[in-house]
Amino acid sequence: MSIRNVFASGLCLALFVALAPAPAQKAGDAAKGKEVFEQCGVCHNADSEEKKMGPGLKGLFKKATLADGKTKISEAAVRKVVDQGGNGMPAYEEMLEKKEKDDLIAYLKTL
Ligand code: HEC
Repeated sequence: MSIRNVFASGLCLALFVALAPAPAQKAGDAAKGKEVFEQCGVCHNADSEEKKMGPGLKGLFKKATLADGKTKISEAAVRKVVDQGGNGMPAYEEMLEKKEKDDLIAYLKTL
């Protein structure tokens, strides 16, 4: 390899590093969300779809609808369930900070 090639490949590498996209700015932190989820784990499995008190949440965001079979899965729909609860699900609107909910949603998306 000539000096020139070494220089060229080094330059390429430097360019690649410089141009590589910065990690997407995420609203929530999934690792923190996992901690928030501890209080949900009493009623929800995170690692299976098996029902505990409420439906198992594994693969939640990969499903077509909520357990009601009607509501299309979206971040807004899931936030609404968490905020408003109902049917045995507590309402977390006042119980969690916005940031905690963002983290929670980020975590739920990893399931
Ligand atoms: C006391 C038990 C309990 C706790 C604690 C609880 N849930 Fe629930 N959750 C339920 C029940 C019961 C349902 C089913 C409600 C229904 O059928 O309408 C549910 C439904 C849900 C759903 C809708 C799932 C689907 O597929 O339709 C989501 C999402 C959810 N809970 C998330 C959470 C999160 C996140 C937390 C913690 C912040 C939490 N839950 C805490 C009992 C609980």
